[in-house]
Amino acid sequence: MQEKMIPEYIESHTTEEDPLMAMLNRETHLKTFYPNMLSGKVQGKFLEMMVYMLQPKRILEIGTFTGYSALAMAKALPENGLLYTIDNNEEIESFARRFFDKSACGVKIRFLLGDALVLIPNLDEIFDLVFIDAEKAQYLNYYEVALKKLRKGGFILADNVLWGGKAVHVDKKPDKETCGIREFNDFIKQDSRVEQVMLSIRDGLLLIRKL
Ligand SMILES: C[S@@+](CC[C@H](N)C(=O)[O-])C[C@H]1O[C@@H](n2cnc3c(N)ncnc32)[C@H](O)[C@@H]1O
Repeated sequence: MQEKMIPEYIESHTTEEDPLMAMLNRETHLKTFYPNMLSGKVQGKFLEMMVYMLQPKRILEIGTFTGYSALAMAKALPENGLLYTIDNNEEIESFARRFFDKSACGVKIRFLLGDALVLIPNLDEIFDLVFIDAEKAQYLNYYEVALKKLRKGGFILADNVLWGGKAVHVDKKPDKETCGIREFNDFIKQDSRVEQVMLSIRDGLLLIRKL
């Protein structure tokens, strides 16, 4: 099989999005400048499955965008579960909130507007699962604030750790996002507080467990 056909094959063998997620996916593509920031069908289903498997009670998401990954994870949260999702872009707030309100899972979501690095230290919660998916140059900073709020044995999932392959290829003048992702990946590798596995799902996910 040709390599370029593999993503299509994976997508066609993954459960279809429910109608609300399909609508959110479509509207994001129609109405936002960078729709490829959205997790999408395969990663969304993977996040949902992770929540079913880990059964966290408290989830923290850094980077809401239009709310796709938040809704995917909230769907699998138990009734008494809560997902805090943070985004610093006020322009997407009403978009995401509209979809949270349409969903039966919306009651489990707390949307916080602001800089994650400022808001997280003030959250009075200990999390079971953290999903990092915001500014790539800041990954290491998100990691440090989130790790303080993560319970022992809890998990962090970091998105885009392959960064379109730029994390892997040696480039003489890498951009700040590529530098941020490389710095993050290399730091985690030697961090004795955690263990980790890198997954080649979509743009790369790093699954980290706090020891
Ligand atoms: C890749 S998108 C998130 C996609 C979303 N998780 C999904 O899968 O649908 C990244 C988001 O992070 C937000 N962001 C960037 N820097 C941030 C910060 N310091 N604090 C909070 N949000 C931030 C951006 O506004 C953007 O909406």
